[in-house]
Amino acid sequence: MSDLAVINCRQLVTLAGPRHPRTGAEMRELAIIARGAMRIRDGRIVAVGPRLEIQRSLAGDTEIVDAGGRIVLPGFVDAHTHPVFAGTRADEYEQRAEGATYAEIAAGGGGIRSTVRKTRATPEAALLDAAHRYSGWFLRAGTTTIEAKSGYGLSLEAETKILRVIRSINAERRLRCVPTFLGAHEIPDEYQGINDQYAEAVIHEMLPHIAEDRLAEYCDVFCEPNVFPAPQAAAILRAAHALGLGIRMHADQFSADHGSLVAAEVGAVTADHLERTTAAGLTALKAAGVQPVLLPASVYNLGSAHYPAARQMIELGLPVVLATDFNPGSSPTASMTLVLSLASTHMKMTPAEAITAATINAAYSLDRGHEIGSLEPGKIADFVIHECDDYRELPYFFGRETADAVYSAGACVYQRSA
Ligand code: NIG
Ligand code: FE
Repeated sequence: MSDLAVINCRQLVTLAGPRHPRTGAEMRELAIIARGAMRIRDGRIVAVGPRLEIQRSLAGDTEIVDAGGRIVLPGFVDAHTHPVFAGTRADEYEQRAEGATYAEIAAGGGGIRSTVRKTRATPEAALLDAAHRYSGWFLRAGTTTIEAKSGYGLSLEAETKILRVIRSINAERRLRCVPTFLGAHEIPDEYQGINDQYAEAVIHEMLPHIAEDRLAEYCDVFCEPNVFPAPQAAAILRAAHALGLGIRMHADQFSADHGSLVAAEVGAVTADHLERTTAAGLTALKAAGVQPVLLPASVYNLGSAHYPAARQMIELGLPVVLATDFNPGSSPTASMTLVLSLASTHMKMTPAEAITAATINAAYSLDRGHEIGSLEPGKIADFVIHECDDYRELPYFFGRETADAVYSAGACVYQRSA
């Protein structure tokens, strides 16, 4: 592979800094190089610095990427997505506009279970086609890595089908995918009323196969009193941990502190959502070193005003992460810049804090903080040229697509046509 140099960046937003997830005031330090440049070899960053310094060191055959005076950031790392499903839930969206609630629709057999029925009935190749379409949405939003959950199969056969689709997308080397098994996302139709038996099936029938075939790096559970209550969630997650999987959780989306306390107790890497978490839950997360993953697009799209307490979390020293929660029900968006806007407007995170949460902190939550999430020598060259003059414009001009060119490991994977 040849050498590559990215030149003419008005702001090279590197996020270079301490080698740990950023907390407190560290979240505001983006380590921006004005009129910066970057040198890349074999898909890895070799040097980052002021333009003149970098240009002096270039070999004659270096391929030049001219950022055209725009800004360059690390690719976003979206640490919570559900990208493999069949169909949409546009019908339920309409019902919600007419007054039905997400919980009412789910209680009536719709919601996640309606997507499960469609996903089970769809062949793997067709699911892969749909996932391709959504992968393109992530890339054009400036995202180069996603954490991708299963969870619309809820049987060994259908869950492994979904995880194979995630593996196929990752193997194409355009959008990096970190797979998570979410067999405990909902109680499927055939186990309604015998929830305990479904939890047993997840533990004894699904998890051992998933772990043996290395189809997932993480296991997630939707912890809510009426779905997977705390003791059941803990049992599933302990079984996953014993098989070598890392632990993430859907915690406190609708009820206070059930999930966060389990996350702290079982040593989860992340607790996600946290819309209802109280001070006790946050203190437990801090003590146990669990990273909060906040999903304001699902709050917005469900028409709720109950955003998570990001400021309190940052003040406590928690290394906050932001993600889209891309899924067909609560959050059908792949746009990280929309998430940045929601974080600044509704959770009072500064644009710099939000960008830190969407890049380096997210990378650490996926055990990839040493490889991606910032533009530093030695790291994989996942970077994006955004059409704006200042990083604060990313959340400020909300609702627009800003990415002009997206690079994964030094290769262009998306280019906006002229
Ligand atoms: O993170 N509530 C659990 N899971 C998703 C919603 C999935 C769906 O509605 O299809 C979430 O919001
Ligand atoms: Fe989710």
